[in-house]
Amino acid sequence: MFIVPELHNPEELDQIQDLEIRDTDVFVVTYPKSGTIWLQQILLLLQFKELHHSRVSTPQSDPPAVPLHAHRAQPQEGQGDLRGQKSKDVLVSFYHFQNAVKVLETDKSFDEVLERFLGGRVPGVGKNWFEHIKTWFSHKDDLNMLFITYEEMIQDLTSVIKKIADFLETELTQDQLQNVVKHSTFKNMKKIPQANYEQASKLMDKQQGSFMRKGTIGDWKNHFTVAQNERFDKIFAEEMKDFPVSFIWDE
Ligand code: A3P
Repeated sequence: MFIVPELHNPEELDQIQDLEIRDTDVFVVTYPKSGTIWLQQILLLLQFKELHHSRVSTPQSDPPAVPLHAHRAQPQEGQGDLRGQKSKDVLVSFYHFQNAVKVLETDKSFDEVLERFLGGRVPGVGKNWFEHIKTWFSHKDDLNMLFITYEEMIQDLTSVIKKIADFLETELTQDQLQNVVKHSTFKNMKKIPQANYEQASKLMDKQQGSFMRKGTIGDWKNHFTVAQNERFDKIFAEEMKDFPVSFIWDE
C-alpha cells in the first residue's frame, strides 16, 4: 500500500496492522502508479454489480470495500490476490505524481526520478519495482493469485474484467459486464472526483496535474532520452532476465 504518512494519523495506521483477515478478503497488490485505483474501481463495481453511479475509494474517502495489501501478511488459502504491474510508464506516472503531490518533497527532475527508481529508492515505497514483481510472481503457484498487467488492461479491458470475475467466481450477465467496463474506462473514471483526489486538496496541486493523468502505455517515449532508455533497458534486462512473462512497451 502506498501510504503517504502526512495523510494518515497513527490510529489509522494501527488499524491496518490489526486488520483481521477473512477468507473472503481480496487483496490488490500493486506497485504504486500501476493502476491501483483502477483495480479498486473494478472490484467495487464487481461487488455491486448493479451500481450505476461510479465511485472510487481512496485513502481520503471511505475505507475501501476491498482491503489493499502490499507487503503485509501472506494471504491464506481462499483469499484472492490480484496483481497489477506497469513498467517504464510507472516511472513516468511517478514523475508526474511527485510533481503534483504537495506533501512529497522529492526530486523533481526526470533524471533524478529515474535514478531513484532504478536504485529502488522511490519515496514512500519499501521495495524496488523489480523485487516487487519478481517476489510476488514467484508465489503465483502457492498463493491464490491472479497476475494482471496494466498493459493487458489497456489493450483489452473487457477480457481482463471477465478474467477477474471468473477468478472471484462472480457471475455476471452481459449487461453487468458492460456496466463494469463502462464505469472503469479512463474517460469515465476521470470524471469521478475521488479518482482524482479532488477532495484531497492538501495532497494534489491541481496546477501540476491530476491523478487520472493519461492512462496510456508508451508515454515513456515522450520522457526518456535515448541514453536514459538504454540505461533502463540494460538494468531491466539484468534484473528481469529469468522472468517468464514478456512485457508490452507500447500500444
Ligand atoms: P498515468 O499517470 O500514467 O496516467 P495508481 O492508482 O496505482 O497510483 O496508478 C495511477 C495510474 O493508473 C495513472 O497512470 C492513472 O492515469 C492510471 N489509471 C487509473 N485509472 C485508469 C483507467 N481507468 N484507465 C487507464 N489508466 C488508469
